[in-house]
Amino acid sequence: MKEKVENLKKEALEKISKASNLKELNDLRVEYLGKKGPISELTTHMKELTPEEKKDFGKLLNGLKQDVTNAIDTKTKEYQEAELNEKLSKEKIDVTLPATKITIGAPNILEKIIEDVEEVFMSMGYDVVDGPEVEEDKYNFEMLNIPKGHPARDAQDTFYIEDETMLLRSQTSPVQVRTMLKAGGKIPVRMICPGKTYRRDADDATHSHQFMQIEGLLVDKDIRLSDLKGTFDLIAKKLYGEDCVTRFRPSYYQFTEPSVETDISCFVCKGKGCQLCKNTGWITVSGAGMVHPNVLRGCGYDPKEWSGFAFGFGAERLAMLKYGINDLRTFYQTDLRESETFDRKDV
Ligand code: DAH
Repeated sequence: MKEKVENLKKEALEKISKASNLKELNDLRVEYLGKKGPISELTTHMKELTPEEKKDFGKLLNGLKQDVTNAIDTKTKEYQEAELNEKLSKEKIDVTLPATKITIGAPNILEKIIEDVEEVFMSMGYDVVDGPEVEEDKYNFEMLNIPKGHPARDAQDTFYIEDETMLLRSQTSPVQVRTMLKAGGKIPVRMICPGKTYRRDADDATHSHQFMQIEGLLVDKDIRLSDLKGTFDLIAKKLYGEDCVTRFRPSYYQFTEPSVETDISCFVCKGKGCQLCKNTGWITVSGAGMVHPNVLRGCGYDPKEWSGFAFGFGAERLAMLKYGINDLRTFYQTDLRESETFDRKDV
């Protein structure tokens, strides 16, 4: 028996040493160590032996199994390493190939213009305030002096949620109301509120069911229309250049009295008249006015003591004018070919 084991070992180790690739080694593993292999077969003879013999024979068989396994493992490792080295030496990295181009994204042009406006107002001590886009009718209309059934609501028709008390805000003015209420009629307010607004408009080159407004409000003692004029003049010059001139035209808004339409001199033709300004020399950029006493009163401010001005820009309009964009839809169609043209690094 012992001799049989010795011969088997000799034969296996010899075959293993001659194996010339991984496949042969694997075949030998199956041949010698598999369930139907000679080592397994020798184990079946155990039952014919005495307990003493069993012990010796068991040791012998285990030794044989271990030696064959070790020999196969060692050789397998050698071949695997050789295979890897060969692969590494064959596969060269060509460092002269051009690198993959990395495209750097840029923030949306609307964000840029809003940041520009925020910066000017913050430098004058204004807060930037946020408010809900899903708004109550009360804040979006009623407290702004636009009661239910008022014809002014038609021009700001929006999307209603469930019943007619909740809606998608049609302007950012409700944030002005909320801010005044929070201040409680006791302290001055200086804020701007940029944000998304909604209207039930069909989308075209100058209308969108969703757009951005930047509204602002200042409430204090002795605030006059001339303060609004000065503030507007400053922002216009910052955005459109120091030679920009401004003017007010009378207008009508329910929440301001008097109300104005604010124009800037056309920065293309410098007032001479061109296509952009429709030959008028002026471009309208916002609505504004002195806060209506009803609005002040409703928000807790006594109009005999306090006064204020408010204004509202369309952010897209500011950006369209500044960057020569002639279709409002450009901002929302997420067409990279379009937006890359107005990329922040170009402005
Ligand atoms: N909310 C107005 C609009 O959407 C714009 C506006 C006009 C805002 C006058 C104001 C304002 O705050 O005082 O047409």
